[in-house]
Formats: sequence, C-alpha cells, structure tokens
Amino acid sequence: MKTENKELINKIFSDSKIVDYAHFINSCLYDKQFGYYNNSSISRDFITSPITHESFGKIFCKQLQEVWDYYQNPRQFVIVEVGGNEGKLKKDILESASRNKKFFNSIVYLNIDRIYGDDLLNVDFKSNYGCIISNEFFDALPFNRFIKLEGEIKKLFIEFKEDNLTEINKKVENFNFLNKEIISKIPDGSKIEIIENIDLICAKLSSFFNNCIMITIDYGFNDWNKLFFKNPNGFVRCYSKHSMNKNILENVGNKDITCDVNFNLLNKYLSMSGFIEIGNTSQEKFLIKNGFKKLFDEAPENEKRGLISLVNPEGLGGFNVYFHEKPDLKFQPTCLQN
Ligand SMILES: C[S@@+](CC[C@H](N)C(=O)[O-])C[C@H]1O[C@@H](n2cnc3c(N)ncnc32)[C@H](O)[C@@H]1O
Repeated sequence: MKTENKELINKIFSDSKIVDYAHFINSCLYDKQFGYYNNSSISRDFITSPITHESFGKIFCKQLQEVWDYYQNPRQFVIVEVGGNEGKLKKDILESASRNKKFFNSIVYLNIDRIYGDDLLNVDFKSNYGCIISNEFFDALPFNRFIKLEGEIKKLFIEFKEDNLTEINKKVENFNFLNKEIISKIPDGSKIEIIENIDLICAKLSSFFNNCIMITIDYGFNDWNKLFFKNPNGFVRCYSKHSMNKNILENVGNKDITCDVNFNLLNKYLSMSGFIEIGNTSQEKFLIKNGFKKLFDEAPENEKRGLISLVNPEGLGGFNVYFHEKPDLKFQPTCLQN
C-alpha cells in the first residue's frame, strides 16, 4: 500500500474496519484534508465542456434565456447550478447574459459546490421561477455498489484487514432501486452502482422552486439493456494522470472516481420528486440547434479545435442533455424540436 495514502485510509476506517462504497468514495473524493477534489497538489484529470471553450456557456445562456421568456420574463429568475466547481460556467453564462440588461438584472445565480463547503443536501431556499442546471455533477456523486450473485442482489463493502483493502458482500434485505423484472434480466456476476441518497438529492432539488426547468448534462446511459450485459466491473472509471482504470481500491485518494449516470434511475427519482421529463438530446444536437455554427464560424482558427471537441459525438458531444419541468409539462425547448 502506498504510504502517502495511509492517513486517508486510517481516517476512512477509523470507526469501522468495514465500510460501504459510498463512504469510501466520499472520503477519497471529498475528504477536507486528503480528498481528490481538495488536494491542490493533484493535477485535475477532467476537462469538462465549460473548461474546453466559453461557447458552451454562451449557448447555455441562450437556452436559459429561452426559459426566462417562457416564464414571461420574471423580475427574479434564479439559476441554481449544482456542482459548478470554481464557477467557469457561471462566469461565461453571466458574461453572455449581460448583453441583455433586463435578463441580466433578473438573474440570481447560485453555484452550489462542495468545494465551497456547501453540500447540496444542506442548502435551503425557495424561489418562484428558475432553472436548475448541471454539467457532470451526477457522475461525480458518491455511489454504492451491488452485485447480483446466484439471483440475489448483495451490497458490496470494503474491508480493511492486515493492511489490505478487500471487497466483501452482504445480503440486502430490501433492494428497491430497481424493479423485480429488471433485476431478473441482469446477468449473474454483474455489478450495479446506485448514487448515494439519489432520492434525497432529487427531493432537495425539487424543493428549491415552485416552477422550474432542470437541464442536466452528463455521460451515462438510458437504455436498460446496458445493464443487462454482464458487467463484472460495473460502470465505474478511475482517472489518474490521464490514464483510466476500474480499480477504486488502488492509489486511494489520488484519483478521480466516476461512474456513468443511469438516467433511467435518475429520471425515476426525479419523477418521484415532482419533475416531469420533457425529453433529451445529445450535447452535439443541443449545441448545434442553439447556434453553435455561428460561434464556430466567428471563432479564431486557434480555438476551432476546442469548439469541435464540444460537439464530437465520440466525446463531449455524445453526452446526454435532459430537460425536466415542474410542476407542469408545457415548455418545449427549441433544441428538442425537429
Ligand atoms: C466533475 S466536477 C464538474 C465541475 C463543473 N460542473 C464542470 O463542468 O467543470 C463535479 C463537481 O461536483 C461537485 N460536487 C460533488 N458532490 C456535491 C454535492 N453533494 N454538493 C455540491 N457539489 C458537489 C464537486 O465538488 C465538483 O466540483
């Protein structure tokens, strides 16, 4: 075991020598002293769309203005960004919004991110009209892991014993995240990840607004068949120094841990919290339908590569963009129309 991780490992297992994955990942990513997101000596492995090019924020702003128009230009329009990190998307959106003074003056922008000590579940406020937006937020949330063994779902835990980390499993009494039909189709030996507190997170988001549109951008899948392929390692990925592997238990604290978002499950919990799904598209189509070509044509030559990567269907362009609304289903985003 690498010596630089010992303090973090001792901290993770200080109360119990057996912990679940959510507890373990939570500390690996967000521990205030040793977590990946709080350790300034680790170079970041993720390059997200807002970091890639400011056009992403400009186009997002156009989409938000469409929502503001849909609500008939309310005097106060709250944009809640969850997991906005250091605020790059916020900066680009506000810069672009400042061209329309009435829109700009109505905006209250909250970037809720753990790096500022705000845990989403502890934030309380309420507004009448607005938007909840996120880019690569749900894939960064700690998750628990389960395995299907001999037809039964077991929960996976990590045991710290004799200076080693090993995975063990225990029977789950009540696994109600997936229905029986889906569970029956999952091949034996498959691992399944479930975002910790997904129900509370969706309920919290819903509590912020009386009327809102939620726009979620992330990688993941919305086809149950993906779960039905035997997946001995699940949908986890770890990134360290730009190389990827699937072993969470190695090089603890020094790497990003992420997981494909199961949009079917997310949609289920959003729906239970009062959000109605409007539809979804790819990031490529979302950007192109909202004016990407004009920005591309006007961009200096040295920025075109970055812009192309925003729409590349093999990369960022292949991300899912989901639209939800509460309390009714009336909004028709232009980018979802033919
Ligand atoms: C992969 S980063 C994405 C950052 C940014 N949205 C972007 O696109 O560049 C995920 C972000 O989610 C934040 N985060 C994770 N869990 C959170 C929580 N429970 N509440 C608020 N922020 C959280 C992390 O601190 C991190 O900044």
